[in-house]
Amino acid sequence: MDSSPHHQDTNNIDSSFDNYQDNKEIIVTPWEVSGEIEDRMYIKLIEKFGTQGLSQDLIEKFRKLTGEVHPLIKSQYFFSHRDLDWLLTKYENGDPFYLYTGRGPSGFIHIGHILPWLFTKYLQDKFGSKLLFQFTDDEKFLYNPRATRETISKYTAENILDIIAIGFQPNLTRIIIDTQHINYLYPIATEIAKKITFSTAKAVFGFTNTTNLGMIGFPPIQAAPCFLPSIIEKKPTPVLIPAAIDQDPYWRITRDIAVKLGFYKPAQIHSKFLPSLSRISKMSSSKPETAIFTTDEPEIVEKKVLSSFTGGQATISLQKKLGGNADICPVYAYLRYFFDNEKESLERYIRCKSGNLLCGECKSDLADNTKTFIIDFKRKREKAKDKVKDFMFDEKCLQ
Ligand code: TYM
Repeated sequence: MDSSPHHQDTNNIDSSFDNYQDNKEIIVTPWEVSGEIEDRMYIKLIEKFGTQGLSQDLIEKFRKLTGEVHPLIKSQYFFSHRDLDWLLTKYENGDPFYLYTGRGPSGFIHIGHILPWLFTKYLQDKFGSKLLFQFTDDEKFLYNPRATRETISKYTAENILDIIAIGFQPNLTRIIIDTQHINYLYPIATEIAKKITFSTAKAVFGFTNTTNLGMIGFPPIQAAPCFLPSIIEKKPTPVLIPAAIDQDPYWRITRDIAVKLGFYKPAQIHSKFLPSLSRISKMSSSKPETAIFTTDEPEIVEKKVLSSFTGGQATISLQKKLGGNADICPVYAYLRYFFDNEKESLERYIRCKSGNLLCGECKSDLADNTKTFIIDFKRKREKAKDKVKDFMFDEKCLQ
């Protein structure tokens, strides 16, 4: 079978991933990202995870197909990939691809989650791709000792509204909730599970003797939707996963066993993380005071933004004298990735560095933009309530 490059993704990175965790500077797993987020870290992650940076040639290939370079690629928010060039060549040769992404419903949705989904919607619109969207309600129940089935179900229902509000096309998008649709995933998951040893899972995910059995058995469930398109289409079907790079361990183990099971390796495009308002680590639902949620009231959004960490100096006169540090400023990052165009962002950067821009102005720009965005998004969430059924995976998807 024609397939993507055949190197062993897990063998490549097992030990270096461990070493990376050992050096205590930064931890990146699907369940934990800690340490200060800065651009240097992403270069290191490409090296350690054995992924590839987005080259100019690849960006050009993308541009030829989409007619432009998406701002999130231009700003290098999406910075890394596996087999994207292979996937685009397949597409050029008449082989369409599925998109696959997902959410672990552990809380409300914050604006960090939204960026990969907005990009996924863009890809769906440009390439006419079908999308499988997985809710790993089992993963989040198993991971958090305090989680109850009731709270996870509540967040699943709430988060589905956000997914629909993103604007995915109902005729091309299907939502899979693990505990409800397990019959479609389990046969594939058992095939996957049989090919992965505990030793590999331990090295890739950092499982220990105290990890509960549910978590140890979970990764094949997240791997399964990578192969579901081939079952739906009744032939090997390329799949592209847009997500932040924290999810990469899942794809490493999936890619290593894909060809053995007669499937293509899933391709990925990896994004960076939107930092938390305190700058320490990524934005996370588990630290609500430093995250902006789609369910936050506009006054709360404003309050959170105004009390955010910035890259500014301690006083106005020092700021004017020394300039600010936009490179470490979450306010600058949100404006850059969400709201400013390239020119505005560059101007903001220069004015900040040269001491001609004070943090108050950036905070106020961000608060205004975010409030407008959230008010509009809330409206879309409300409308989504009538559409949930249209998006659910069912038997018809397999016919
Ligand atoms: P979850 O719910 O942790 O995250 C959902 C998506 O958001 C990305 N993400 C972020 N991106 C930027 N900045 C942040 N601060 C940030 N925090 C999270 C994640 O990378 C992810 O793309 N196990 C998964 C659910 C899942 C999934 C998938 C994700 C199932 N199948 C396929 C991606 C692709 C999870 O708990 O994601």
